[in-house]
Amino acid sequence: MADLHAFFHPRTVAIVGASNKKGKIGNVLVRNMIDCGYPGRIYPINPKAEEVEGLRCYPSLSAVGGKVDLVVIAVPAARVINVARECGQAGVKNLVVISAGFKEVGREGLLLERELTGICRKYGMGLLGPNCVGMIDTHVPINASFSAVFPQRGNIAFISQSGAMLVAILDWSQTIGLGFSRIVSLGNKADLNEADFIADAADDPHTRVILCYIEDVARGQQFLQAARAAVRKKPVIILKSGASQAGARAASSHTGALAGSDLAYETAFRQCGIIRARSMAELFDLAVAFAHQPAPGGNRIAVITNAGGPGIVTTDNIEMSDLAIARLTKETARELRSNLPPEAAIYNPVDVLGDAGADRYRFALEKVLGDQNVDGAVVLVCPTAVTEPEQTARAIIETHRSHPEKPVLAAYMGGKILAEGARLLAEAGIPCFTFPEPAVKALSGMVRYARARELPAKVEEPAPEGIQREPVRELFQKVRQEGRLTLLGSEASQVAAYYGIKTAPIILATSPDEAAARAQEIGFPVVMKVASPQILHKSDIGGVKVGIKTPREAQRAFIDITENVQRFLPRAVIHGIEVQKMMPQGTELIIGMTRDVQFGPLIAFGLGGIYVNLLKDVSFRLAYSLTREEIQKMLTETRAYTLLRGYRGEKPRDLEAIIEMIARTARLVLDFPEIAEMDINPVFAYTDGAWALDIKITIS
Ligand code: COA
Repeated sequence: MADLHAFFHPRTVAIVGASNKKGKIGNVLVRNMIDCGYPGRIYPINPKAEEVEGLRCYPSLSAVGGKVDLVVIAVPAARVINVARECGQAGVKNLVVISAGFKEVGREGLLLERELTGICRKYGMGLLGPNCVGMIDTHVPINASFSAVFPQRGNIAFISQSGAMLVAILDWSQTIGLGFSRIVSLGNKADLNEADFIADAADDPHTRVILCYIEDVARGQQFLQAARAAVRKKPVIILKSGASQAGARAASSHTGALAGSDLAYETAFRQCGIIRARSMAELFDLAVAFAHQPAPGGNRIAVITNAGGPGIVTTDNIEMSDLAIARLTKETARELRSNLPPEAAIYNPVDVLGDAGADRYRFALEKVLGDQNVDGAVVLVCPTAVTEPEQTARAIIETHRSHPEKPVLAAYMGGKILAEGARLLAEAGIPCFTFPEPAVKALSGMVRYARARELPAKVEEPAPEGIQREPVRELFQKVRQEGRLTLLGSEASQVAAYYGIKTAPIILATSPDEAAARAQEIGFPVVMKVASPQILHKSDIGGVKVGIKTPREAQRAFIDITENVQRFLPRAVIHGIEVQKMMPQGTELIIGMTRDVQFGPLIAFGLGGIYVNLLKDVSFRLAYSLTREEIQKMLTETRAYTLLRGYRGEKPRDLEAIIEMIARTARLVLDFPEIAEMDINPVFAYTDGAWALDIKITIS
C-alpha cells in the first residue's frame, strides 16, 4: 500500500500551469492553496509569468532550485508527459494531475496515460488522477484542488471516483454545516486508487468515518485487504454504482447464472464489513451518524414520540431492519408509569403525548438510555401548539451527554416550527432528520458496523490436508492439448478427488463390453451417462440411464445411449459413456464457483438438483480468505439449512462434511486460476458424509 504521509503533508508544492487569468483552473489552484492557509511553500510554474497571485513564479520546475514534494499539474494533456518527466528527474515525491484527455477519451488518451504511469513508476512518484479535481486535507491544511469550496474542518474522509459528485457534495455540505477531514478525487486511478486512500484514512487521526463513491474497484485483492483492515479501525461506507463485468459475461454454469451482475461487489463488501449505502442520501445520513455518534453495543432500540402514528412507522421500520424494539426493564416501565401522565404509553415506543414539553422528553429519554436493555434511541418530535422544539432539543443534547456510549438520533417531523430545534441538534452532533426512516436506516448501518468491526484482520486458513496439485495441473494440460476447455465428468471427478473432495466413483468406457466390466468393478447398481463436453443437458436427449443392475444391462445401456445421442445430436463428439456408482438418495445440494474479474472466485452453496435456478436458494462468498466460520454462516443463510439440520424429525445431515467440501472447492479454484467455472450439482448430503455426484469444470 502506498505511503501517503508525504502526499498529504508536503513541505513544498509546485503548481504547473499556474495562471494569472481569473477563472482558469491554473489560477484557482494557486488561489485555493493560498486561501486554505497551507503552511508550506508554494511555487507557481509558468514560463510566461513573473508572479502569480502575489507569489514569485518560476519558468520551470528545475528553475525552482530547492526540493519540491508535491506537484499539481494543470496543463493540457499532451504536455503532461514532459512535465512529469521533469518532476521525476527533480526527485518529486507525488503528482496530482488535474488535466483531462487521458484514458477517458479513448485509445490515444489511454496510451498517454500509460506513458504517464510508466514515468511515475520509473521515478517512484505517486500519482493522483489524471482527470481529477484534486485533493484537500482540512487539518494540514492543504487544498490541491480546483473545488469552489474549501469545506469546514471535520472528521469525514470522502473519496470519490466522480469529480462532479464531489464538488456537488462540497457545496451542499455548507448548507448543513458538515465538516470533512479529507477530500480525494480519484479521477482515472492510473496509480493511486481507493484502496490506497482507504488504508491511509484508516490511520489518519483526524478521520472518524470513511466515505467512498466508486464505480469500480481498481485491484480486487488490494481493495479487500485495505478495506478489511480499515473496518477494524473505523467505519467504511461505500456507494457503488454501475454493474460488474462478471454479470456482463454470459455464464454457462448454474453458479454463473445465479450470480447477478452486482453480486461480487455485494459479497466483497459484506465479507470485509463495508457498509453499503444505496443512495447519496443514505451515504451522508450514515456519515453524519458515524461522525458524531458512538456505534451501538447491540441492536435494541428505544423510541420516544409525542404521537402514535410516527411511533408505529418507526417501529415498523425497526422491525423490517436488523434492529429490534428494546424491551424495557420492569424498573424503567415502573418509573415511566409513575411520572408520565396516565394516558402515556410506557412500553416501547414510549408515547409522551401531544402536550409533552421538554421536561417530559428529558425524563423519558433519561430513563430509556439508563435502561440496560436499550442500545440506542430514536426521538420523534411532531409540532403541536404546545411542543417546545428548542427546549426539547437542548433536553436531548444534555441527556445524551450523560449517556455518551449510546447513540441517539432524532426525527423532527415538520418544517418551519421545528427548524431551529433541528439546527440545534445537528450542531450538537445529534443527527436530526425530517422523517424517521433515515434515522432507522442510519442506526441499522451502525449496528452492522459494530458487528463487522469484530472481523479478524487477515485470515490465513491452513490449506486442507491431502491435496495433490501436480496431477491436477497435468490433467488440465492434457485437456488443453486435446483442444478442449470443458472437462469430461470423469476428469472433473478426478480433479475433485485430488483435492480430497469425495466423489461417487466414475469411469469412462469406450465400448459396451468395457462398460459392463467397469460397472462390475464399481459395483452395481450404476448410472451411465454420455461423455461429451458439447452436451450440457444429457437427460433431455436420452443421454443418461439410471439403476443399471447387471453387466448385460450395462452393455445394452451403452448402445442405447450412443444411439439416442447420434439421433438427437448427430454432430456431437462422443468420448464414450461414463459409468458411475449409483448413490442412495441424499439431500441434494449445489456447490459452485464463478470467477469475477476483480475479486476472483465466488463460491456458491445452496439447494441443488434440477430446480437450482428456479429456487435460487443460494448464498455466496469470495473464496479469498474464506474461513470455516464464514462457510458455516453461508450455510445458515439458505433455506437448505433447515433441511440439513433435520426437517420434521429427519436426522441432521453431516454439516462438517459439507463445510469440508466447500473449503476444498475454494482451495482448488484459488490454486488454479484457469478454472473459469465449476459446478458440483448435485452433492448428496447424508447423515454421515457428503458425496459429489456430478461435477462440471470449465477451464480458460
Ligand atoms: N509549464 C508551465 N506552464 C505551462 C506549461 C508548462 N509546461 N505549458 C503551458 N503552461 C501554461 C500556459 O501558458 C497557461 O498559462 P496562462 O494562463 O498564463 O496563459 C497555463 O499553463 C495553462 O495552460 P493552457 O494551455 O492555457 O491550458 P488551460 O488552462 O486552458 O487548460 C487544463 C489546462 C489542464 C485545465 C485543461 O487541459 C483540462 O484538462 N481541463 C479539464 C480539467 C478537468 O475537467 N479535470 C477533471 C475534473 S473531474
